[in-house]
Amino acid sequence: MRLRNAFRLGLYGVFSILFASGALWIYADQMKINPEMDTEMWQQAAALLLSLHGGTAMVTLLLLGALGPAHVQRAWRAKKNRTTGITSIAMYGLLILTAFGLYYVGSEALRPWISTIHIAFGLAVPAVVVAHVMVGRASVAAVTPQAQARGAAAATLVPADAPADAVLVKVMSKAG
Ligand code: HEM
Ligand code: HEM
Repeated sequence: MRLRNAFRLGLYGVFSILFASGALWIYADQMKINPEMDTEMWQQAAALLLSLHGGTAMVTLLLLGALGPAHVQRAWRAKKNRTTGITSIAMYGLLILTAFGLYYVGSEALRPWISTIHIAFGLAVPAVVVAHVMVGRASVAAVTPQAQARGAAAATLVPADAPADAVLVKVMSKAG
């Protein structure tokens, strides 16, 4: 369930860009209607930020898809970090659903609601990521010394392609 460095950095990278481009877009969206500002410049900035946001969202979907077998399945079977894991899945699911709505729901009455929900959950992403990683690491660290005492190498927690998956799951579920 521990992720390879490049994959982990990729995930943190896309979430940072999504958050920064989303938050900056909220600012640019206000500035572009402020008569005291260079409204044309802010309009261009808002459009650029939204295309960066939408493009990054596509890469995010790829990475989230790869996370299923590499991370979620293993952690689920080991009964580790399920609560913040389910919260994360629900939250990204809602972000994806509302993003779909932003593109395809034609109703002018519904769009502001969809936008507000998307932004509210979007702004909460850093808190959920930090909570998930901290709780997850603590839950795995708590079991590692016991696993070591039983003769299982702690290193089996690290690589995604470790051959001792079945052994690890057995040790972890006993210890948990
Ligand atoms: C889309 C949903 C999820 C995302 C984006 C995500 C992402 C992450 C990331 C980036 C880490 C830090 C990895 C590291 O330090 O190497 C992590 C750790 C962890 N996650 Fe998830 N995760 C998700 C879902 C889940 C689910 C559903 C579970 C449980 C069933 C789970 C269990 C864990 C555990 C146990 C750790 C600690 C791993 C360790 O330190 O060895 N995750 N997660
Ligand atoms: C998995 C995560 C996310 C996905 C898949 C996603 C996807 C999208 C998509 C496709 C759009 C429409 C872009 C367009 O109209 O060209 C959008 C809009 C937006 N997103 Fe996200 N996003 C995610 C996370 C976030 C986060 C973390 C924030 C943080 C603030 C955020 C803030 C926004 C904002 C402000 C808009 C513009 C809303 C509007 O047009 O009314 N999103 N998002």
